[in-house]
Amino acid sequence: MVEKLQKIWLEGEMIPWDEAQISILTHTMHYGLGAFEGIRCYKRKDGKSYIFRLKEHIDRLFDSCKLTLMAPRFSRDQVMTACAEVLRANNLEEGYLRPLIYIGDGAMGVYAPNNPIRTAVMAWKWGAYLGDEALKNGIRAKVSSFARHHVNISLAKAKLTGQYTNSVMAKREAKLGGYDEAIMLDATGYVSEASGENIFFVKNGVLHTPDLSCSILEGITRDTIIELAKDEKIEVREGRCNREQLWLADEVFLTGTAAEVTPVREIDNRLIGPQGSEGIVGPITKRLQTRFFDIVRGSDNSHPEWLTKI
Ligand SMILES: Cc1ncc(COP(=O)(O)O)c(C=O)c1O
Repeated sequence: MVEKLQKIWLEGEMIPWDEAQISILTHTMHYGLGAFEGIRCYKRKDGKSYIFRLKEHIDRLFDSCKLTLMAPRFSRDQVMTACAEVLRANNLEEGYLRPLIYIGDGAMGVYAPNNPIRTAVMAWKWGAYLGDEALKNGIRAKVSSFARHHVNISLAKAKLTGQYTNSVMAKREAKLGGYDEAIMLDATGYVSEASGENIFFVKNGVLHTPDLSCSILEGITRDTIIELAKDEKIEVREGRCNREQLWLADEVFLTGTAAEVTPVREIDNRLIGPQGSEGIVGPITKRLQTRFFDIVRGSDNSHPEWLTKI
C-alpha cells in the first residue's frame, strides 16, 4: 500500500493529501479517458535529488493529450514545476511522480466536449517495482492470453488510464498463474511489450526490440537503453519479433520507469540463455543495467541532459 504523504498538487494548488478528492461524476472515472505519466526521482551519489528525463515524460503526457483531443489548462512548464514542487512539499529525496490529466465532471455522455480538463500531480515512495531480487536475478514471465491493443483500436503511443485494463488483466493472469510478469503479443501474434514495460532481447551480441510502428508505448527507459547501448557500441536492431525468438534468446530484459531494467530469466517455463548459462542474468543486460543505475543513482555524468535537479 502506498504510504500517505502530505501534499498533492491539484489544479494549480498544493493541498493536503486527504483533501485531494474528486467527484464520483468525473468523466474519466466512467469512460477511462485520462492521460498520465510515471516519473522517477533519484538521489544521486552527490547527495542531491534529480528527476529522470522530466521533459521527455511531460512531452509524452502532452502528446497523449493531443492524440486524445484533450486541451490541458496548464502548460508543460507549469506541470514540470509542479512535479518538482510536489517532491519538495513531501520532503521526498527519491520517489515516483504521477501527473494525471483527466476529464472532470459536467456532462455524463461519452462526448462531453465542455467538461473541464483537470490536472493533478502526486508522488509517493516506490522501491523496485518487481522487487530487489528481480533486479538482481531476473523474473519469470508468461506470454499472456491477452493481446495488446491493435494500433487502430486504441492509441498505443498515448499513456491512457483506460487502456490499462488490458495490462491489469494480463498482469492478474500472470500473477495468478505463478509468474511475475506478462509479456503481451500484438493482435497479429508478434511480440509487443509487457504489462507495464518494454521488452528487449539479445541474440549473438545484438540487442533487439520491437520498433515504434508496433503496438508499444514509446518508453523513455527504452530510449535510454538504446542510447546507452549505442554508447557501449552494442548493435541495436528495432523490428518485429515473435515469441520463439524470446524463448531462444541469449538474454531478455524489461525496461520501464517503475521496473527500471529488470532481467527475465524464464519465459513460459523455458530458461533464457545459451546452453550452460540458462536462467542466469547475461552480460549485456548486466552492463546496461549497471550503466542505467550509475546514471540515475551513481556518479556517471555522461548524460546530464537527462537529469533535472530539484
Ligand atoms: C505499457 C507500458 N509499456 C512501456 C512502459 C515503459 O515506459 P517508460 O520507460 O517511459 O516508463 C510503460 C510504463 O510507463 C508501460 O506502462
